[in-house]
Amino acid sequence: MTENHHKIIIAIDGHSSCGKSTVAKEVAKKLNYIFIDSGAMYRAVTLYCLRNKIIENGIINFPRLEEDLDKIKVCFKFNPESQHNDIWLNGENVENEIRLLEVSQNVSPVAAVGAVRHLLVALQQEMGKSKGIVMDGRDIGTVVFPDAELKIFMTANPDVRAKRRFDELTAKGESVSYEEIRANIIERDRYDETREESPLRKADDAIVLDNSDMTREEQLIWVLSQVAKN
Ligand code: DC
Repeated sequence: MTENHHKIIIAIDGHSSCGKSTVAKEVAKKLNYIFIDSGAMYRAVTLYCLRNKIIENGIINFPRLEEDLDKIKVCFKFNPESQHNDIWLNGENVENEIRLLEVSQNVSPVAAVGAVRHLLVALQQEMGKSKGIVMDGRDIGTVVFPDAELKIFMTANPDVRAKRRFDELTAKGESVSYEEIRANIIERDRYDETREESPLRKADDAIVLDNSDMTREEQLIWVLSQVAKN
């Protein structure tokens, strides 16, 4: 299946911090597909806004954001060391910086701006033209690739998600509290599900993967078994 299978588009959407990128990355590796973390693109735009004071104290200056949109160049470049596509912002690798809690705390309102979404969705659709891609996000199965051959909607219990993200950030040396992370996850879900522009929702033809009690390996096997049905 992994070698000769016809190439498809795999869309993985779902709640914040439930391991979408982790499983998407592993599936892509196994199938020799390209993996694209669409959330990284929204994070890179948010980082640009924070650095350029388009966001201050959590408030977005919308006219300035729209004015600067054509100055924000976001792309992925393969990093041979990590064997992963890193996100670049205006010629700089920002793969690590976009994961900081400050970016997580400001990304949802940026991702709710229509002009930002139009820009990034067009780039994402271009990346999927040759298929053989696993993309994760919030609107991949509903908006970016409504005709994707396989759509998965991932979720997990918020406590499990907060614990995983807390472990990940503290391992990187970031000083964060579990409560702060849990609150951020719940708030982002609420924001993503209730925004007007492309809200997070399960596509009618998506299959649900609740990984609260699953290991990474079990998730990989589960997804590959869905691919095999195609
Ligand atoms: O997957 P993530 O947590 O890195 O995504 C960061 C934010 O970007 C998330 O809060 C919602 C938004 N996002 C989105 O609106 N649409 C996508 N396709 C991907 C992410």
